[in-house]
Amino acid sequence: MKDAFGLPQSLLVLGGTSEIALATARRLIARRTRTVWLAGRPSPALDRAAASLRALGADTRTVAFDALDPAGHEAALGKVFAEGDIDLVLLAFGVRGDQARDERDPAAAVRVAQTNYTGAVSAALIAARALQHQGHGSLVVLTSAAAERARRADFIHGSGKAGLDAFAQGLGDALYGTGVHVMVVRPGFVRTRMTSGLPEAPLATTPEAVATAVELGLRRRSETVWVPGALRLVMSAVRHMPRGVFRRLPL
Ligand SMILES: NC(=O)c1ccc[n+]([C@@H]2O[C@H](COP(=O)([O-])OP(=O)(O)OC[C@H]3O[C@@H](n4cnc5c(N)ncnc54)[C@H](OP(=O)(O)O)[C@@H]3O)[C@@H](O)[C@H]2O)c1
Repeated sequence: MKDAFGLPQSLLVLGGTSEIALATARRLIARRTRTVWLAGRPSPALDRAAASLRALGADTRTVAFDALDPAGHEAALGKVFAEGDIDLVLLAFGVRGDQARDERDPAAAVRVAQTNYTGAVSAALIAARALQHQGHGSLVVLTSAAAERARRADFIHGSGKAGLDAFAQGLGDALYGTGVHVMVVRPGFVRTRMTSGLPEAPLATTPEAVATAVELGLRRRSETVWVPGALRLVMSAVRHMPRGVFRRLPL
């Protein structure tokens, strides 16, 4: 069960090697989290991630999970929830893709969309139902500031995140009053392997800063969290910018 401050004792990460998710797990383990499940594609990196959290004192297990295999999601999440209550599900998987390549290769673009959107829809609905069944818990969904307005340079990834963001807001409304809390987290540019090699965007931040914001959002039971917070105003201006102006920005 969560404590009086909304912090979880048990955590399920979907996308178990995500640098943002692991920074969040480390922060929550330093507070109160004792049990962690890392769901992801089996790999040495997933095993290393689990070992690193075990070394911090958390009972950590892995479970095979592939966003691109929604038919397997019931079994993967079912295995976790069968072992005990989960206070927090952190949906952290996603791919950035390669916009130029994906525009030329529709099958690759579809894989990006299926990972970021339909895979997340499937996993989030299954997680939400399990949380509702136990009567408590939070679902935290990492969307992106990119969800606010799709950019020329990133619209395949951005449109999937926009869909996921809208979906997660609707799911939050559907679950309002049930005891299950949905929090949408919209980071801007975070320095992780996902962005390595890219020119750094203004207001760039770190996985640790996202983890801090997630913890604060859980304590406040927030519905939407921007990281850094200043992005909320910036993206509001970007969202309302005339299209002809937006198109010419070097974004
Ligand atoms: N970094 C940023 O600037 C930024 C900004 C805004 C939002 N976000 C979002 O935050 C989340 C975490 O990003 P991050 O920066 O921590 O990136 P990351 O370290 O690259 O983590 C991405 C995660 O997604 C997993 N994944 C990819 N395809 C998968 C699939 N088919 N099935 C299961 N897992 C899959 C990866 O697992 P494998 O180890 O199997 O590849 C990895 O665990 C993502 O949703 C990302 O879009 C990131």
